[in-house]
Amino acid sequence: MGDAERWFQLYWAKDREVTRSFLGRARACGFSVLVVTLDTPLLAWRPRDLDQAYLPFLHGVGTANYFTDPAFLAGLAKPVHEDLNAAVLRFVGMFADPGKTWPDLAFLRENWDGPIVLKGVLHPDDALLAAEAGMDGVVVSNHGGRQVAGSVAAADALPRVARAVGDRLTVLFDSGVRTGDDVFKALALGARAVLLGRPYVYGLGLDGQAGVEHVIRCLLAEFDLTLALSGHATPATVTAGDLEESPA
Ligand SMILES: Cc1cc2nc3c(=O)[nH]c(=O)nc-3n(C[C@H](O)[C@H](O)[C@H](O)COP(=O)(O)O)c2cc1C
Repeated sequence: MGDAERWFQLYWAKDREVTRSFLGRARACGFSVLVVTLDTPLLAWRPRDLDQAYLPFLHGVGTANYFTDPAFLAGLAKPVHEDLNAAVLRFVGMFADPGKTWPDLAFLRENWDGPIVLKGVLHPDDALLAAEAGMDGVVVSNHGGRQVAGSVAAADALPRVARAVGDRLTVLFDSGVRTGDDVFKALALGARAVLLGRPYVYGLGLDGQAGVEHVIRCLLAEFDLTLALSGHATPATVTAGDLEESPA
């Protein structure tokens, strides 16, 4: 990350001490913004994952944040390398917590002194509850559609959320941003900025860091041109009016 601003993405563990420890470690590593992933209180019915029995967590892959955490390790009878199964079981028991709800956000507010962004808000009423809970922003996102097939498109939810919260929250957006004109449309629908999920992963897979940089450079160039071709010198002047059809 170099000197860039760091945002820490939290999957909110059931165990309070482990969560508190994660937040402290993130702070100590220089993360300033906390992004809480709400999209996945449970893993969805994912046929391809099921077909391939694909859940690397069960093999202790993708669990490093836990397996290096002092509060997590304190609950194990043996070190991870001596009893991987016990570590995996402890992880599985705390990773998801579908019981969490709005009042629980007070815990995060007490344990994080920077901005907090809730990722995975689609309903305007939920966005208002986020503002009331003292959150600073929301990411309008459907988790790439990997959870509930047929859920509302994030782009359809975006203007409703943006209208509901006005200036009370920073509204960000992801799910399906692939091109510069997608960025333009998201801003016009009320997003302050967009996030990229899969595109940067594709770049990473094809050419490592250079691939990621290429993806982002292309997207920014296309966005810049789309702005200019739509009559804008800056993103700040893009509004919903840019998407309206011409009168017949
Ligand atoms: C393989 C995969 C893993 C993901 N893991 C996470 C995650 O750990 N935390 C999170 O907040 N979102 C996760 N997401 C969701 C993405 O952050 C993003 O919201 C979603 O993919 C939509 O953006 P996109 O269409 O640009 O990919 C994941 C998505 C994919 C495809």
